[in-house]
Amino acid sequence: MCGIVGAVAQRNIVSVLIEGLRRLEYRGYDSCGVAVLADGEPRRARSVARVADLDDQVRDTKLGGVTGIAHTRWATHGAPVTDNAHPIFSRDTLAIVHNGIIENYETLREMLRGKGYEFVSQTDTEVIAHLIHSVYRGDLFAAVRETVQQLHGAYAIAVLHKDQPHTVVGARQGSPLVVGLGEGENFLASDALALAGSTDRFVFLEEGDVCELTLDGVRIVDRDGQPAQRDARQVAAYGGAVELGPYRHFMQKEIFEQPRAISDTIPQADAFDASLFGEGAPKVFEEIDSLLILACGTSYYSGLTAKYWLESIAKIPTQVEIASEYRYRDSVPNPKALVVVISQSGETADTLAALKHAQSLGHPHTLAVCNVGTSAMVRQTEFAFLTHAGREIGVASTKAFTTQLVALFVLAATLGKLRGHVDASQESNYIKQLRHLPAALNSVLALEPQIIAWSEEFSRKENALFLGRGLHYPIALEGALKLKEISYIHAEAYPAGELKHGPLALVTEAMPVVTVAPNDALLEKLKSNIQEVRARGGQLYVFADADTRIVNAEGLHVIRMPEHYGLLSPILHVVPLQLLAYHTACARGTDVDKPRNLAKSVTVE
Ligand code: G6P
Repeated sequence: MCGIVGAVAQRNIVSVLIEGLRRLEYRGYDSCGVAVLADGEPRRARSVARVADLDDQVRDTKLGGVTGIAHTRWATHGAPVTDNAHPIFSRDTLAIVHNGIIENYETLREMLRGKGYEFVSQTDTEVIAHLIHSVYRGDLFAAVRETVQQLHGAYAIAVLHKDQPHTVVGARQGSPLVVGLGEGENFLASDALALAGSTDRFVFLEEGDVCELTLDGVRIVDRDGQPAQRDARQVAAYGGAVELGPYRHFMQKEIFEQPRAISDTIPQADAFDASLFGEGAPKVFEEIDSLLILACGTSYYSGLTAKYWLESIAKIPTQVEIASEYRYRDSVPNPKALVVVISQSGETADTLAALKHAQSLGHPHTLAVCNVGTSAMVRQTEFAFLTHAGREIGVASTKAFTTQLVALFVLAATLGKLRGHVDASQESNYIKQLRHLPAALNSVLALEPQIIAWSEEFSRKENALFLGRGLHYPIALEGALKLKEISYIHAEAYPAGELKHGPLALVTEAMPVVTVAPNDALLEKLKSNIQEVRARGGQLYVFADADTRIVNAEGLHVIRMPEHYGLLSPILHVVPLQLLAYHTACARGTDVDKPRNLAKSVTVE
């Protein structure tokens, strides 16, 4: 992952670089650093704390310069210690920042050791630094071009050299990099957001591109070394600080923003129309015979939920697969399938690679469900449906998930209508239910005080089981993921019917069993599963729809949800699980918005 910023200007650029890093912390926060050319020498500051600490350091040391690069790291090769923090130097003449993984770094390191290079870090990045140094003959652009030919893996890099005081060279392959065009100054970054306020004109580099930034221009060549014409685009990235308001953490704020995010995502039209997904979608949606959904993490769970909707409402066979698995396995392509990638960021490396893999196998039709309109995923798919969650800052995804569910429900209803399975009255019912969702969510959010009471108890546990059935099994999975991500409590989810095939062995009074209990067709089956846990002394924590008649008893703790919300019920039932994870994490005192070892956007394998 990692975030990169670079700049060539006529003013001291350090504050722009530091601000850029603050906005890129979602890409990793294990360490950070900045390097500038000062009096003809590369100078740097690095921190294994957060960007705020780096900022203090550069102020204290008065680090300044007109040409610079900066980095926020998610550790891959080497622990998050200062020696491994970027920028990485080669022989005090050049500095580099890198996002990605170089797969042949061991071979290259041995070759470079043979040439007398010493390695002071455990990073794969230091190999790139020395390689550029070893081929540098007065032209950094040429040296970077020569170097990238030898790299296997994924990278976005930005490099500066002490002999070229007004130049930054960048390259990308498999990791994102954008060029920001200014007046008499130019920039590079992993994400346009990093440069909001400095420019709104961007060139999105393509795979294999190498670029050279100087004060008065940008030169780009493609992977074959040919000059590349890349169009500049106006992007109004909002870089302003997002305020916490009355909330303790962004995650809590984002949970409470869900009614607004969902209402912004629900299409305004009074009918489900395939053209919502893009020009040409009505024809393609008529022709497809199945769906293949690819995603990672929380987005994968929204795909799993959608499978139930797609098969039940639209009667269309749907396969859901973890992107990192799909991209490497032998699969049988079906050109009549619509490939759907789901992603909050639209930059997740495994999902992007899975999309490309599907396209290379001959899947012609692709759709992105995504929260970022300028992302690589949206650019690389035939159709797109944008969710309007707004910027999500907490690493644990909340409002992005529920808005994805809304988008996928709209997809299922649209396909159902096209295939003759949703009649006019059903259509208007679905639309009514969607429009009432924000209000229904508000009444679920009002359960927060009761959930806080439970979270005290949860914070003293080290394990938890989550149960759901049918449409709510993916919700149990998402609840368990939320709890483990931010509270570090080990949590697993099972379809409740599977309990007896193994996990029941874990049930004792020390094991809380969180159960999602909507009043649907599987309720009676679920009640039996609840009894199986009670009979073994397990402690049940049940989120039960008001009309389920599940009541508090010994070993059975119940929070009442509003009445059953039909097929859209998962969107309501996930919210108390988000709040439970959040308040349990608060009670344990973890860094809720930036949990250890994780990152918001995973742009490496
Ligand atoms: C990371 C985030 C998760 C997210 C997953 C997929 O692991 O921490 O919250 O669900 O990436 O991200 P995407 O942007 O593709 O939805």
